[in-house]
Amino acid sequence: MNRISSLFGIQYPIIQAGMVWCSGWKLASAVSNAGGLGLIGSGSMHPEVLREHIRKCKAATDKPFGVNIPLMYPQIDEIMNIIADEGVKIVFTSAGNPKTWTSWLKERGIIVAHVVSSAKFAAKCEAAGVDAIVAEGFEAGGHNGREETTTLCLIPSVRKATTLPLIAAGGIATGEAIFAVSVLGAEGAQIGTRFALTTESSASDAFKEYCLKLDEGDTKLHLKKLAPTRLVKNAFRDAVEEAENRGASAEELREILGKGRAKKGIFEGEIDEGELEIGQIASLFSKIETVDEVMHELVDTYQIAVAKSYLW
Ligand SMILES: Cc1cc2nc3c(=O)[nH]c(=O)nc-3n(C[C@H](O)[C@H](O)[C@H](O)COP(=O)(O)O)c2cc1C
Repeated sequence: MNRISSLFGIQYPIIQAGMVWCSGWKLASAVSNAGGLGLIGSGSMHPEVLREHIRKCKAATDKPFGVNIPLMYPQIDEIMNIIADEGVKIVFTSAGNPKTWTSWLKERGIIVAHVVSSAKFAAKCEAAGVDAIVAEGFEAGGHNGREETTTLCLIPSVRKATTLPLIAAGGIATGEAIFAVSVLGAEGAQIGTRFALTTESSASDAFKEYCLKLDEGDTKLHLKKLAPTRLVKNAFRDAVEEAENRGASAEELREILGKGRAKKGIFEGEIDEGELEIGQIASLFSKIETVDEVMHELVDTYQIAVAKSYLW
């Protein structure tokens, strides 16, 4: 037991990241049932769809689970009311100011973790009264920090900036990596990419198979003029890269991006024209696994890494 596992009431301080088009009730409940903390990703759900996922998750597990809420969500008030109505006990907020919703959530007895990509924002989380911080490095899939700070540099600097319980994210997909970030001062690990590619993830098989064939260097950070996002190589990314190289404006990039592109790519499996999001660490894996297989392997390899460290 450490501060993260006791805060959330879980067996292992392993958090399955909230991920658009990947983390519905099936993935979240499977991770919670396996002893980690599953998060439903509300970022790609209409409010009533989120309600349905929360109810299905409650029916599928009696273990703690939570909901990830990107704070730039357009119907944020409705989402927050559903969280309170449905008795959700854990919320991970991201992509916004932790001051806006933390007290509202805490007044309702909800545990709040907030995602940051810099030590400066970690200090803001402390002032806002969050219960835990997720520090997400440049390797991560999805939206990313403008500063491009890698997990190896970010975790010690956030550790220095705050005494709050700290969860590391970005490039963590093995027990060895969980051990490595614990040495740097993290008390838990949030894992996105590896869980996005499991059987229980709601992403399309075409997306999973494509990501499992990636090499090093096949994902890159783009769209800094809008919201910095790690994109997988494909025709859509080529168009973004070409536009960025000739200095395209934010307006033009917004037009190229259009609407619903992440759904197309991740959920519907349109590999060429969709927006494909995955982390650098995808290149380490080549087959779809179940959540149970991943969780067992994470725990086993973590324990081996800890045992080996005593040999030095
Ligand atoms: C497909 C995908 C979708 C994501 N969507 C979200 C999201 O909706 N909200 C969020 O806070 N982070 C999102 N992320 C980031 C993850 O929550 C997590 O912090 C990140 O994946 C961790 O790094 P890793 O991918 O190297 O494991 C997403 C990541 C991926 C791969």
